[in-house]
This record gives sequence, structure tokens and C-alpha cells, in this order.
Amino acid sequence: MVIARKVFTLDEFTIQQLRNFHNATGELSGLLRDIGLAAKRVNVEVNKAGLADILGEAGIMNVQGEEVKKLDLFANNQFTGVLQHGISCAGIASEEWDDFIAFDDDASRQSKYVCLFDPLDGSSNIDVNVSVGTIFSVYRRLTEKGTSVNLDDFLQPGIRQVAAGYIVYGSSTVLVYATRRGVNGFTLDPSIGEFCLSHSDIKCPAGGKIYSVNHGNFYRFDKKVQRAIKKYQCCTAQQGGPYTLRYIGSMVSDIHRNLLKGGIFMYPPTRDMPHGKLRLQYECNPFAFITEVAGGLATNGHQRILDIVPTALHERSALFIGSSNMMEEWK
Ligand code: AHG
Ligand code: MN
Ligand code: MN
Repeated sequence: MVIARKVFTLDEFTIQQLRNFHNATGELSGLLRDIGLAAKRVNVEVNKAGLADILGEAGIMNVQGEEVKKLDLFANNQFTGVLQHGISCAGIASEEWDDFIAFDDDASRQSKYVCLFDPLDGSSNIDVNVSVGTIFSVYRRLTEKGTSVNLDDFLQPGIRQVAAGYIVYGSSTVLVYATRRGVNGFTLDPSIGEFCLSHSDIKCPAGGKIYSVNHGNFYRFDKKVQRAIKKYQCCTAQQGGPYTLRYIGSMVSDIHRNLLKGGIFMYPPTRDMPHGKLRLQYECNPFAFITEVAGGLATNGHQRILDIVPTALHERSALFIGSSNMMEEWK
């Protein structure tokens, strides 16, 4: 039998990438493998939504005052568990933990990476069968190997990310991750339980026709944002318009689509949320890194997202992100 096409699994791909670096230790591939494992477990659970008792609220609020869903907790426990029991991560921070967690076993203390994540993004979509996701960000720790990580390891500007990625639990389950060398996407083949390379070397188209924003907030946006939205709606075919509005309400799905098709995603400040809604460290930064490596841009409206120096773990930021030609007024 001749197998016509070589299928690259996530593990094979990361190990092959590693061979390009003389002093690579394999820790990053280990970390990505652990994340892939947690993603597969979350995927199984997301697919049982409606059957098992996993829909609805968990009955608690997180540190940001948001209602936590049962699946938020499940995903948080899975990602925390694999990273804690793996040997490639020295500590984590998550949307669902008030504070960072230092893994204090010997193997973890020797690890060089920390990971920040949003275990389940778009959780308001869970109960209605709309795509949700996971977002993650990896930094090299600043503290010495062999010691416990501290808050400084988690408050690094996004430009220092070593890798960032996301998983979309959608009509198929796709894991996309970026390092400085490029962005690649892997689709879960449920028959073998492996993420297989399906989108190699993703580039964000320089132009596009899609804008993604919560239109219900229109009258809470400032005048500049309102003018931009009107322009997207009114510009003529010669000016590349009119644009099409697409807004799923889980940024993983919205930005994944725009990354592949071209487009702009915005979560501007509003009257009620003057610093925006999205979290800098595990929502904005990973997507800013992925998008920039793919050729796009990401700012808070004034400043490049990746240059912002965070001052708190759950800090919020406005976000304008997407195709380079559509980002003119947000640079
Ligand atoms: P999370 O479910 O992790 O709290 O994040 C939801 C975020 C983001 O994914 C999405 O784009 C945005 O919130 C939607 O907010 P609005 O409902 O205010 O538009
Ligand atoms: Mn989120
Ligand atoms: Mn979340």
C-alpha cells in the first residue's frame, strides 16, 4: 500500500522545528504537546455539551466579577493539570485563577517557560452550540531556573512571547500556534486523536472586507470609532467596501476567521469599560503575536499591543487587530 501524503502530527512538526536550533532542549515541544493533550480533553467535553451535566453556570464569580461556567472550570482544570504534571512549565496564570501559580516540584522549578491562558474563550456561546476556544501565551521566565517563579515572570510585554496560540472548538477542532518563525495550524483528526498539520505558514491577507465588533455598543464608543464603523459601512466598491459585519462573540473564532480571510476585529473602549474588556495578557497579547508573525497588526488604538508593559495579571486593554491595510487609522 502506498500512502500518498505525509501527515505531519503536531508532535512531529514541533520536533522537526526544534532541529533547526542547536541548543534547543525540547521543552517548548513538550509544552505544546501538553497543551495539545489538554485541548483534546476539552474538545471531548465540549462535544458532549447537552448530554453530560456540563452546561450552565458553576455558581461562582471569577476575580474579574464574571459568571463562571462549568465548562470554564473543566477547561481550567485540564490545562492547569497537564501543565502542572508535565515537565516543561514552571508556572501558570489563567483567567480563572485570581493569582499566578508557581509549580513547586523539582522538575517544574527546572523548567524555563511560564504559560498564561484563557482556558475557555467565548463561554457565553457554550450553551448554544457556537464555537468556543482556548488562548495561550508562552514566555521564557526571568527568574533563575531552579527557583520558584514570581509575578515578574508573568508581567512581561507581549513582544517577549516565545510562542502563542489558540484552539478553536468549531465545526472541526483546530490548534494554531506561532513562534517567531511562523504560524501553523493543525486540525484534530478524531479517528487517530492527533492534531495534523492542515494550515502551514499562515499569512494574514493584507486587505479584507470583514469587520468584527459588538455593534450593540455603538453609542458607547468614542466618535473616532463610530466614524470608522460608518466608513466601513459606507465606503464604495472602489474604496474596497462596503465591508461585511461578522461577530461571533468569541474572539478565538472571530480572529481565526479574519486571520485566514482578511479582516479587522475591534474591541474598543466603551463608556462603561474605558480600558476595554479583553485581557491584555491572555487574550490580546497572544493574538497580537500570532497576527504580527502572520503579517498583520495589533494596537490598543494608540500603541502597539506587544509593546505594552503590563502592571497587573488581569489587566484589560482595548484591541484593534487584523489585516495591515485595514489598520491604517489604528496605528
Ligand atoms: P471569555 O468568555 O473568556 O470571558 O471571553 C469573551 C470575550 C471574547 O472572546 C469576545 O470577543 C468578547 O468577550 C465578547 O464580548 P461582548 O459580548 O461584550 O461583545
Ligand atoms: Mn476570553
Ligand atoms: Mn474565558
